[in-house]
Amino acid sequence: MHVLVTGGAGFIGSNLVRELETHGHHVAVLDDLSTGHESNLDGTSAEFVHGSILDRTTLDGLVRSADAIVHLAARSSVPRSLDDPIASHEVNAGGTLNVLESARLVSGASTQRQVIVASSSSVYGANAELPKREWSPTRPMSPYAASKLAAESYTLGHRSSFDLPTVAFRFFNVFGPRQMPGHAYAAVIPAFIHAALTGTTLTVHGDGTQSRDFTPVATVVATLRTAVECQMSSAEPLNLAFGLRITLNELIDRLATLVDAPLLVEHVENRRGDVPHSQADPTLLREHFPTIEPTSFDDALLATVDWMRGHLASSSDTVVDLAASER
Ligand SMILES: NC(=O)c1ccc[n+]([C@@H]2O[C@H](COP(=O)([O-])OP(=O)(O)OC[C@H]3O[C@@H](n4cnc5c(N)ncnc54)[C@H](O)[C@@H]3O)[C@@H](O)[C@H]2O)c1
Repeated sequence: MHVLVTGGAGFIGSNLVRELETHGHHVAVLDDLSTGHESNLDGTSAEFVHGSILDRTTLDGLVRSADAIVHLAARSSVPRSLDDPIASHEVNAGGTLNVLESARLVSGASTQRQVIVASSSSVYGANAELPKREWSPTRPMSPYAASKLAAESYTLGHRSSFDLPTVAFRFFNVFGPRQMPGHAYAAVIPAFIHAALTGTTLTVHGDGTQSRDFTPVATVVATLRTAVECQMSSAEPLNLAFGLRITLNELIDRLATLVDAPLLVEHVENRRGDVPHSQADPTLLREHFPTIEPTSFDDALLATVDWMRGHLASSSDTVVDLAASER
């Protein structure tokens, strides 16, 4: 199949490109490189187009030859959205509507062009229920979460209104190789691993008892690839996580064991927009994807530490912001 991956030069996108190519699919990537890196695609055969999902001409040109679109391009991270809520809205909500409209209106090889959209567990926000079920109320706590809920709603709306085959996955905290540390909005796992490997202090917002359903990127891309291959379409958003719940304190302990050294930890105030706990109910996911076996957390953490060692060896990146991010 011909698959367009928006945001394909980013963390999840570049892992997905490899997964799709390994399974024989042709991939095109549209990415504005605002947080992604073209070098993430080194060694792949993906057609790379440097551009924005907000530019309909570029988007339409790529959509025309696609059988499926996996739409990952976004201004990710809660803190980034606190700094500029309108930019997050324009890219995450407006950009998603652009992608859906392009898929609906552009003629081409495929008449029933599938669109898979990345939503986020952050849409559950202030809803304290655990585990999170797809029909639980959504209560966004940040502009990022609100923009993701809007993106997801447009995705479901286009399916109902225009019979566009769509599916919106709520990703939880995804981690793995190519998730970059060393920038102000770094996610918690790469930030902690980076600190652990460079002997710097890990900064924990709060007391470290907050928990997340940390999901290996290998599990996420295997699910997305399967959804493309079976041309899945769903009237409900789907959690894409398997119900693991790990606190930041447990994460730090496991990391200390892996790097075989005690870690320096500093606790600071809680961060705005962060939810205390997050854990998926994976029942719907398991029903739709009975063949997907989640990668074990410890194996994935080890693979991520190994990748980070290689990354550090080839980079001079040393600035870190050690913060737990509900993404
Ligand atoms: N990583 C997680 O834990 C997590 C959790 C929930 C949801 N998500 C969602 O998954 C998707 C991928 O996230 P990621 O972690 O790989 O983030 P990422 O920042 O690594 O990837 C996003 C990519 O989109 C690109 N991009 C941003 N704006 C663009 C635009 N206007 N046009 C084209 N490209 C643009 C960036 O350059 C980047 O390569 C995002 O939609 C994010 O909101 C991620």
